Amino acid sequence: MMVYLTRKEHFNAAHRLYNNNWSEEKNFQVFGKCANKNWHGHNYNLFVTVKGEPDAETGFILDAKNLSNIIKAEVIQTFDHKNLNSDTSFFLHLQPSTENFCKVIWDILKPLLTECKLHCIKLQETEKIYAEYYGE
Ligand code: NI
Repeated sequence: MMVYLTRKEHFNAAHRLYNNNWSEEKNFQVFGKCANKNWHGHNYNLFVTVKGEPDAETGFILDAKNLSNIIKAEVIQTFDHKNLNSDTSFFLHLQPSTENFCKVIWDILKPLLTECKLHCIKLQETEKIYAEYYGE
């Protein structure tokens, strides 16, 4: 029996989407307000979904508290209240878009989840926009 378990966490971070190879005009055309020179913040909701067989004795795939502790220690600590472009090394050569951010978080968490399988990283940037990454 395969079951999927999702843990939701929250953090805030600032970023700027900007391509130095383009004119300022094109940057604003493509990235809109996210190209704003003096940064802006997002209230991110992160959904980490794992999959596995529930343990016969606990009924758990893994302890959701453990999952939360891992996410907090490795993801929230790293990104909360940070400037994604300049406070971390992850986006030095990568646009800090929601899409790319999903993959970054996947790569951080994947090796740490040994007792179950990471299934999906879903990252919600605004009420209307989220991205999902399934490791493909
Ligand atoms: Ni933005």
